[in-house]
Amino acid sequence: MLNYKDFIKVRDFLYRKTGIYIDDKKQDSFIKKLAPYLEENGYENFRSFFHTLRFGNNQNFIQDIINLITVNETYFYREKHQFESLIDIVLPKIHKSKPRNETIRILCAPSSSGEEPYTIALNLLDEGTILAERDIELVGIDIDSKIINKAKKGTYNKRSIQFIPNHLLKKFFKVDGLNFNIDNMIKGAVNFKVANIMDKRQMRQLGKFDIIFSRNMLIYFDDESRRDVGVTFYDLLKSDGYIFLGHADKMSRISSLFRTQKLGKSLIYQKYK
Ligand SMILES: C[S@@+](CC[C@H](N)C(=O)[O-])C[C@H]1O[C@@H](n2cnc3c(N)ncnc32)[C@H](O)[C@@H]1O
Repeated sequence: MLNYKDFIKVRDFLYRKTGIYIDDKKQDSFIKKLAPYLEENGYENFRSFFHTLRFGNNQNFIQDIINLITVNETYFYREKHQFESLIDIVLPKIHKSKPRNETIRILCAPSSSGEEPYTIALNLLDEGTILAERDIELVGIDIDSKIINKAKKGTYNKRSIQFIPNHLLKKFFKVDGLNFNIDNMIKGAVNFKVANIMDKRQMRQLGKFDIIFSRNMLIYFDDESRRDVGVTFYDLLKSDGYIFLGHADKMSRISSLFRTQKLGKSLIYQKYK
């Protein structure tokens, strides 16, 4: 149904909208995902589909197509050393320098199905002393509406929970057949929202943060989008705020907006004042 020219049109549209760049090598797998959706929804040719996508202003339809192209791979305690650096070094520093009545705000952009912000919540509860003295707010955003619903539900499979320390697994998860349901108290600790990192207005509405985790999303972006996200993160951070990136993520221009430092085993970026 889709020839190469059609593919380029959809790719460019989605790239402008999301920052995600589907390269030529992924054309076949993209078409394999898109074709059944178009058939199910009665689109007989590419033209009518693209017209609706481009000019229809149908947000649900655009959201469905975005949900098809996202890669949501994640699990609890992914790149564990970053959570150690957060709890042992970064949070104590912020805690020490901030008045006690101020909330520390942490953003996971993107959160996917929630494992990353929930891992932070588990680590905070396990450490205990900082939470006893002040409020910490956790916000998780993702462009994929289906995956945000999954995050809110908090039900995980064995593969996803395999690296959670036993004492925390026992304390905060209930086994339900083959699944593990996260405790309501942990669920309540994270505020999830559907938001597009490329949408400056949506991002501004989130307010300012002390720490941003942005892991394993920028690898799907090209240099231009990464640069753009760098500026967005700069604006979202309070002065001296920190960014944790995944080890495979590159952020062009980050070196001029942020200074890099090794804290514990993690390379962390900090906003220049
Ligand atoms: C591979 S997951 C990473 C999840 C988690 N941070 C981790 O490292 O385990 C990448 C996520 O980025 C999200 N994403 C892609 N483009 C986005 C955008 N423009 N705005 C917000 N989220 C986006 C996808 O929906 C997907 O859930």
